[in-house]
Amino acid sequence: MTASTLPAHIAIIMDGNGRWAVSRGYPRFYGHIRGAARVREIVRECRTLGVRALTLYAFSTENWKRPEEELSVLWTLLRKYIRREVAELKKNGIRLRVIGEWTRLPEEARRELSQAMETLADGEKMDLVFALSYGSRAELTDAVRKIASECENGMMKSSEITEATVEGRLWSSGLGEHSDVDFMIRTSGEQRLSNFLLWQCSYAEFDFPDTLWPDFNVSEFRKSLGRYGARKRRFGGL
Ligand code: IPE
Ligand code: IPE
Ligand code: MG
Repeated sequence: MTASTLPAHIAIIMDGNGRWAVSRGYPRFYGHIRGAARVREIVRECRTLGVRALTLYAFSTENWKRPEEELSVLWTLLRKYIRREVAELKKNGIRLRVIGEWTRLPEEARRELSQAMETLADGEKMDLVFALSYGSRAELTDAVRKIASECENGMMKSSEITEATVEGRLWSSGLGEHSDVDFMIRTSGEQRLSNFLLWQCSYAEFDFPDTLWPDFNVSEFRKSLGRYGARKRRFGGL
């Protein structure tokens, strides 16, 4: 892949874990276990290819509706992932970020996430962003609230608000020039955003492979990237 056909920022809605497990006669949580293993592979592949930012939708604000047992499996898997991967992420120059209302997560998960983010803060090769308890509407609402309060405090005039003002107050703003998503992949055949990165995907290319997330291996990922490479991005121009 040449630099121009490689997306700088890839976002993935890792969907289909439950269906993967149930169709094989396993409980849903087993799908999450298998799905977590794919995260490692895809992160590695992105780093090898030279992708600058990878945002993974791991848990939405709406996913709090799921049964307590399933939530607890997800937090355990998150902690395991962090413990197992931090050393390799560090070695590979990967910076870890989290977007979302992740202060709602259980304390141990929060603590381990904070520690990992601190350890990986100086990574310069690639940003790995976990969207945890993330919802795009909550993110935009939060940005509006921040701007309104700056106006109230006299720090800004409403006439001075630009797109950059909004962008700078999104949770994703730390990604700087890579905050726009170039390529959005949703596995499992569903074709919807489910409240993910509405602002950041304004000019993203989309891919909806039927493959369920636990089956989404590096070869499937490369096929998706090939489809991206064939797109003509015009951004409204000719
Ligand atoms: C995605 O898989 C993972 C999370 C939402 C945490 P699902 O759990 O949504 O799997 P399906 O869509 O029910 O198959
Ligand atoms: C979106 O998947 C969230 C994640 C993959 C983390 P869902 O499975 O929760 O979304 P819906 O319910 O199908 O829209
Ligand atoms: Mg799903």
